[in-house]
Amino acid sequence: MQASDDLIKDFFLQQAELFTDEFYFEEKKEAEIPMNVLDWNELEPKVLSCTKCELSKTRTKVVFGYGKRNAELLFIGEAPGQREDLQGEPFVGRAGHLLDDILAAIQLNRAQVYIANILKCRPPKNRTPHADEIASCEPYLMNQIDLIKPALIVCLGLTAAKTLLRIDYTLRQMREKIYNYHGVDLVVTYHPAALLRNPGLKKYAWEDFQKIQKMYKQKTGSI
Ligand code: URA
Repeated sequence: MQASDDLIKDFFLQQAELFTDEFYFEEKKEAEIPMNVLDWNELEPKVLSCTKCELSKTRTKVVFGYGKRNAELLFIGEAPGQREDLQGEPFVGRAGHLLDDILAAIQLNRAQVYIANILKCRPPKNRTPHADEIASCEPYLMNQIDLIKPALIVCLGLTAAKTLLRIDYTLRQMREKIYNYHGVDLVVTYHPAALLRNPGLKKYAWEDFQKIQKMYKQKTGSI
């Protein structure tokens, strides 16, 4: 047992020497930005009428995204819930109200940022998105990112982080690093729904949002 532990340790030390201590975050390739990026006028109707996956059969409204279309700050959640599905707007339920409160605490509001989800349609009973649904929907989000050109992307929760970064770590591990997503800084923090379920996490989320505010200030000089 000891010998195999030593072997594993040696392997990681060698890899770290070769590739720096961040090598293990690069294990899978990010998705390619689509070559044919549509403008907003082409993209929005295409997404609103999408039938690429089964969720189109059960959704009420497609939740395209909300906010400033050239925002410096882009928040990405998981998928619409019941309220979002009815209203066609992301984060308008309980988790959304908490997100609004957190944004207000760093002197921002939802009209100053852009808010999107990995999936544009609600999974039945709010179940976790399936891989094929993510694969169908991700190009729409990538197109949005390419149009928005944010200075900072904030992944709210593991689904968004794992989808964009192609890595499989715990949220605790991921929130400690600033990632580079196609040249854009990207940070990961807790999903507001996780904060509602587990209020003990709020102090860590607050640390993250103070970091986000600082990065936003540095990038824009605006707050
Ligand atoms: N949770 C999400 O991830 N997105 C929403 O829009 C609402 C709840």
